[in-house]
Amino acid sequence: MNEKALKNEEKKTYYITTPIYYPSGNMHIGHSYTTVAADAEARYRRLKGYDVMFLTGTDEHGQKIQRKAAEKGVTPKEYVDEIVANTKDLWKLMNVTNDQFIRTTDDFHVKAVQKIFKQLYDQGDIYKSEYEGWYCTPCESFWTETQLVDGKCPDCGRAVERTREESYFFRLSKYQQRIIDYIESHPDFIQPVSRKNEMLNNFLRPGLEDLCVSRTSFDWGIPVTFDKKHVVYVWVDALSNYITALGYGSGDDSRFKKYWPAQVHLVGKEIVRFHTIIWPAILMALDLPLPEQVYGHGWLLIDGGKMSKSKGNVVDPRILCAKYGCDAIRYFLLREVPFGSDGIFTNEALIGRINSDLANDLGNLVSRTVSMQLKYFGGVQPEAKRFEDGDNEIKALFKEIYDNVQVQMDALQFPSALVEIWRGVSRLNKFIDETAPWVLAKTIDTDAASKERLAGVMYTLLEGIRAISILIEPFMPETPAKIRQQLGIAGKPELTRWETAAEWGVYPDGTAVEKGNALFPRIDAAKELEELEKLNAGARAEAGAAAAKAGDNKAGNAANAGKAAEAEGEGANLITIDDFAKVEMKVACVLEAEKVADSDKLLKLILDTGTEKRQVVSGIAKQYAPEEMKGKKVILITNLQPAVLRGIESQGMILAATKGKKLVLVTVDGDIPAGAKIS
Ligand code: MSP
Repeated sequence: MNEKALKNEEKKTYYITTPIYYPSGNMHIGHSYTTVAADAEARYRRLKGYDVMFLTGTDEHGQKIQRKAAEKGVTPKEYVDEIVANTKDLWKLMNVTNDQFIRTTDDFHVKAVQKIFKQLYDQGDIYKSEYEGWYCTPCESFWTETQLVDGKCPDCGRAVERTREESYFFRLSKYQQRIIDYIESHPDFIQPVSRKNEMLNNFLRPGLEDLCVSRTSFDWGIPVTFDKKHVVYVWVDALSNYITALGYGSGDDSRFKKYWPAQVHLVGKEIVRFHTIIWPAILMALDLPLPEQVYGHGWLLIDGGKMSKSKGNVVDPRILCAKYGCDAIRYFLLREVPFGSDGIFTNEALIGRINSDLANDLGNLVSRTVSMQLKYFGGVQPEAKRFEDGDNEIKALFKEIYDNVQVQMDALQFPSALVEIWRGVSRLNKFIDETAPWVLAKTIDTDAASKERLAGVMYTLLEGIRAISILIEPFMPETPAKIRQQLGIAGKPELTRWETAAEWGVYPDGTAVEKGNALFPRIDAAKELEELEKLNAGARAEAGAAAAKAGDNKAGNAANAGKAAEAEGEGANLITIDDFAKVEMKVACVLEAEKVADSDKLLKLILDTGTEKRQVVSGIAKQYAPEEMKGKKVILITNLQPAVLRGIESQGMILAATKGKKLVLVTVDGDIPAGAKIS
C-alpha cells in the first residue's frame, strides 16, 4: 500500500524499538548494529505505507553511572548530559530515522515509572522485604548463589558484589506459568527459536524467584514515591521506556493507544531474558498486552570476542563512516552477519564487501549503463520495442526479487533481503555481457533492428537499476538519490514508489541520463588496511586513556602498555604532575573486615568511599586484626585495575608504609569524611 492508497483509510501502525543505550563516550560499531537494523526495518515499513513509530534512547540511571560520575567528580546528571549527545550524534551520522529519542531522565518518564511502581505496590505485586545476594554492576543484574558461574556473573563473567539491603520485590514467580503458557502459545513471540528454548529451559521451567526491584545503596535512580530512600531497579525503569515514551502514565495516552503493543523489540541476545521474562510479567501485572515479538540478534565480534571498551578492541563507526560513507557501513553490517547469529568484524571483510558488492557489482553496473547510454544514444532513451525474451526473464526475476525481499524484511532477515537484491544486480551485469551492447552499437546507424534491440537492452538495464534504487532504500539511505540523479529521474517520486520496484515499463522514454561520480570508489585494500589499523590503534589508545581516567583500568593498561615499555627503556623515574594526577585517591572508611580463608596475609575489607561500597583485599592481616580495622579511615586508590586475590576481587588498593617487616596503614590527620579526595 502507498500513501495515496491509504489516504482514506486508517494507516496500519508499526511500532519498533531498539534497546535504550547506556550513555557512553565510546560507542563502537557493535553498538550501531541494533539501531541500524531497526532503522532499515522502519524505513522499509514507511516505504510500504505504514504509520511507523521508531523509538530509541538512553538508559541513564544506575550504580554504574553513579560510580563513573563520582570518579569524574561530577554529578550523575552532569555526566549523562555531557555524553548522551554522543549517542544522538552517532545516530544522526548513520542516518538513523528514529521518531523519538527517550532519556530515562526525562521528567515524563520518571513520573510514569513512579506511577507504575506505586500501582504495582498498591495491588500487591510489589512487597517490601530484604535482599541478600549478588549483584553484577556492569550488567545491573541480580544473581543468586547458584546462578553464579565460578563465582562470577553468568552473563558477562565479571566479578559480582555481595549485596544486602532492605528492598522491594516484584512477584515475578506469580507470573511464571502465565509467561510459559504465553511463549508456548505464541511461537513468534521470541525469535530466533533458539532463544525461545533457552528462555524456557534455562530460566522459566527451573522456576522464577521474585525480583528485587529497588535499591538503597545508591541514589542515582527514580525515587520510590512512598519510600524515598529507595530507587527503582534500573531494568524496571529502563523496560518501562517502551510504554512511557508513548505517553503511558501521563495525561495524554493517545499515542500509547495508537501504537501499543509494539510489533517488535529488537535487542541483542544478552538482554533477551529481561525482555521476555521480566517485561512480560510487568505488562501482565499492569494488565497490558505483550509486544508481538522480541527479536534477539547476535553480536558483532572482533578477534573472537565481544567488542568492548575494556578489552580495547573497539572499532569506531565514526572513522569508518568518514572514510567509506555511512551507506557502505550500513550495508556491511546488515549483509555480513546472518541476522540472529554472531558475526565477525574484520577490516578485510569490510573492504572486501565494499570492493566486490558495492564498487564492482552495483557501482560498475550503474556507471557502465550510464556511459553506454551516453555513448550510443547521447544519453536519451529512445522509444524501444519491449521486450525480447531475455528482457522478459529479467522482468520476471525482478518481480520475484521484490516479493522475496518483502518476505525477508517481514521476517527481519536483512542479509537474505540483500542477497535477493544482489541477485538482480548480478543478473543485470550478466545481461550486459550476454547482449554485448558494444557489438549492437556498431550497426545502429545502418541496421534498424540493431538500434531497436540496443534501445530495448538499455531500457531493461535502466529499469532494473531503477528497481534496485528502490529496493536498497531501507539499507542505504544516500545511494538511491545518487543513482536516480544519474538515471535522470531525481525528484520524480512517482517513478520510485516502493510498489514500482515490481512494475516494469515505468522509466519514461526520452529521459536523459547524466554521468556522475563513482558511487563506491574502489579501495586499494593493502594501503587502506594499513591506514585503518593505525587509526584504530589511535582510537584504542584514546579509549584506553579515557577508560583509565574513568577507572576502567583494564583498557587503560592495555592501551598504555606500549608507552610504559618505552618509558622504561629510557629509565625515566621522574613523573610529571599530569602522571600523578592519573592516580585517583580518596579517603575511605572501613565498614567490615574479615580474614581471607587459607591466607595469613590477606584481609577482605568493605569500604565506604562516600558514594558507594567497595571490596578491597589487602595484605595487612599480619599487622592488623579484623576487629581493629572497623571504623578506620584509610587512603584508597580508586582507579586501579581490579585484581582477583584468592578468588576474591579487589576493587582498589589501600596505602600502607613499609620498612622491612614493619607495615603501618597510611591514614588522615584530622576529621574528614569518607569520599574526601587526596591531591
Ligand atoms: N541499557 C541496556 C538496554 C535496556 S533496554 C530496556 C543495554 N544497553 S547497551 O548499551 O549495553 O546495549 C545496547 C544494544 O547494543 C544492545 O542491544 C546490545 O546487544 C547491543 N550491542 C552492544 N555491543 C554489541 C556488539 N558487539 N554486537 C552487537 N550488538 C551489541 O543493554
